[in-house]
Amino acid sequence: MKKQDKLIKTFVRIQYAALAQRAGSCCAPEATSARPEGAASVEQLYGKEKLASLPEGATAIAAGCGDPTALAELKPGEVVLDLGSGGGIDCLLAAERVGPRGRVIGIDLTPEMVEVARQNAAAVEAKNVEFHLGEIESLPLEEASVDVIISNCVINLSPDKDAVFQEAFRVLRPGGRLAVADIVALGKLPTTVRGSMASWAACVAGALEKEEYLGKIQAAGFEVTGITETPVNLKGIRVASAKIKATKPF
Ligand SMILES: C[S@@+](CC[C@H](N)C(=O)[O-])C[C@H]1O[C@@H](n2cnc3c(N)ncnc32)[C@H](O)[C@@H]1O
Repeated sequence: MKKQDKLIKTFVRIQYAALAQRAGSCCAPEATSARPEGAASVEQLYGKEKLASLPEGATAIAAGCGDPTALAELKPGEVVLDLGSGGGIDCLLAAERVGPRGRVIGIDLTPEMVEVARQNAAAVEAKNVEFHLGEIESLPLEEASVDVIISNCVINLSPDKDAVFQEAFRVLRPGGRLAVADIVALGKLPTTVRGSMASWAACVAGALEKEEYLGKIQAAGFEVTGITETPVNLKGIRVASAKIKATKPF
């Protein structure tokens, strides 16, 4: 791994460990603490009704920019992988959708996040979901072993997005689906933003423009089947929240 990539990942891990620790503490975070300034609220992303079955520990720490479980149109019995599962909100929603015959696997590189996600799963006695420490650039899974991959506001944080999409393609079964919510750049970001570690951890500095992002998904072998974009202002920078669907051809 390149030295700069290692630095980025270490910085990202430290930032998300701090968030997980604040969320796990009885005296700290208000529900808004996981949301970057300018981001939509958790209720806006998911709708109040959908959140009703989740533990407060999962909604308070949610740091996504969409609802990939809705995008993925999950079915009972499916095996789902969440790239960068954080506090587990999307894994828990996916677990409800796939039911007892299905299975949900969350992967995250921050040990504190994995711990919080496990506590949240235990709080609702979810038996069909598991959380593992790991990196989305080298997934600890067998090839063609999952039906659907979801991810929510994570891939922008990776310094090696080619590896992420190649790994996603490897572990997905032929005909399997990829459903991603992520931040994309609208035009060229200022170099001061690109070079800032804090902006990287805030899901801004690592954001690619839509065409480059889609190019990487296609280069890994996927067929892109849909994309929508909603402009957002994150920390004063104009970016967009993108919802992308793709499939692995048979
Ligand atoms: C913005 S949060 C989103 C968490 C979750 N998807 C959600 O919607 O609440 C980003 C998460 O991705 C994890 N992450 C960042 N880079 C990663 C990588 N390269 N491999 C695995 N996890 C990563 C972080 O530890 C953090 O939990």
